[in-house]
Amino acid sequence: MRVMIIDDEMNICLSLKNILEDEGHQVDYSLKAQKGLQKVKEFSPDIVLLDVRLDGANGIDILEKILKYNRNIIVIMISGHSGIKEAVKAIKLGAFDFLEKPLSLGKVKIAMNKAVEFNNISKDYYRLKSSIDAQYQIIGESKDIKDLLELINKVSISDSKVLIRGESGTGKELVAYAIHHQSRRRDKPFVKFNSAAIPNELVESELFGFEKGAFTGAVNRKDGKIEQADGGSLFLDEIGDMNLNAQAKVLRVIQEGEFERVGGTKTRKIDTRIIAATHKNLEKLVEIGKFREDLYYRLNVIPIIASPLRSHPEDIPILINYFLNYFAQELKLPRKIFNPETIQEIQSWEFKGNVRELKNFIERVYILIEQEQIGIPDIQNLSLNSKETDFWNQTLFFKEKRREFEKKYLQTQLRLYGGNISKTAEVLGLQISNLSRKLKELNIK
Ligand SMILES: Nc1ncnc2c1ncn2[C@@H]1O[C@H](COP(=O)(O)OP(=O)(O)OP(=O)(O)O)[C@@H](O)[C@H]1O
Ligand SMILES: [Mg+2]
Repeated sequence: MRVMIIDDEMNICLSLKNILEDEGHQVDYSLKAQKGLQKVKEFSPDIVLLDVRLDGANGIDILEKILKYNRNIIVIMISGHSGIKEAVKAIKLGAFDFLEKPLSLGKVKIAMNKAVEFNNISKDYYRLKSSIDAQYQIIGESKDIKDLLELINKVSISDSKVLIRGESGTGKELVAYAIHHQSRRRDKPFVKFNSAAIPNELVESELFGFEKGAFTGAVNRKDGKIEQADGGSLFLDEIGDMNLNAQAKVLRVIQEGEFERVGGTKTRKIDTRIIAATHKNLEKLVEIGKFREDLYYRLNVIPIIASPLRSHPEDIPILINYFLNYFAQELKLPRKIFNPETIQEIQSWEFKGNVRELKNFIERVYILIEQEQIGIPDIQNLSLNSKETDFWNQTLFFKEKRREFEKKYLQTQLRLYGGNISKTAEVLGLQISNLSRKLKELNIK
């Protein structure tokens, strides 16, 4: 660890330097406040040991300046007995700890160990947080995505209810997280609850918790997801799949901020922002009595639509690039490169499963293809996507379909053999002249 000492007593600086260097730290010191501040910027320490009373300066002011410069520096104040009041003030301002003079080897070691441990934990925290943030990043530069991000910005400020709609794989969960992450609740939990992933009869007890003995098997009481989301946001995914009883309870949470655990009588208060999402047609569900109309209106204050990938295909190259980097890191593999034709080819796919399908496809590329340069023939076998199913499902006159089949087949085979007609003819068992005629007839270049 890099440690900076700022103290106007030379012997304190030197003895601390000795102790800390013995412990394996890199140490620098300064006897003067301003000089010390300058050195903090140059030496970029993880930890600063700072005297409360310095020659010609107040340690508290220096502390404020250090933290203003970099909030992540751990500052330990050194104070004489008479400086305890200031040391307490320093802690309130963000100092990590204080060491009381006279210093001893033991005191210094204890304080340093605490600081080092804290430093490690906060590094882990930031690593984890940035990997979560990367997982939840919304990528795209199209108008659809820009509008989406702008709307997210607007709704993040307030606690207004948000209903996110959109097909499967369009990023509804990303939107929900982005709203939470930009809201004042960002430091509190973001809790996900997916009604479609839980058996219907368990939805209420999972969401609202239950008391001991609430039902057979409830041997202990259990907190629900909603309690975990207190102060934060509760993401109710696939709300269209939620049963009517649970819907009634959610409505009460929205209206009164209250609920009871299953089998409980005590009314509990909750402060959570509800963000809901569905890929279902809620209006239709309201019509047939499967979704409460009052809840629908309560949730649908601000509708947000995550648009399908086919309406912003211009983002496909950017997304490909992003996922190529993402999986290289995630899977610890060399980064792969798609040539421009390949990207163009992929851009013409339909992506019924939207961005998720594109993401899964890139992951498959990493797992199944070894080389780094990827061309169209390499991905041919991996691209069994929805376009393929559509091809067989589409009903056309047989003659027309056969033409389509021939065209597709010959195009693919030609590509496989690098556009070499005689080679392609040979492997397909055709005469070169026949193949050439076919190609002309089918308008294949
Ligand atoms: N704009 C985007 N940028 C980057 N990744 C995206 C984007 N949209 C979606 N994804 C990725 O696609 C996957 C699906 O996204 P998400 O789970 O948010 O979709 P969804 O709309 O909730 O789908 P479903 O209705 O199937 O649950 C995730 O891995 C997500 O990271
Ligand atoms: Mg989802």
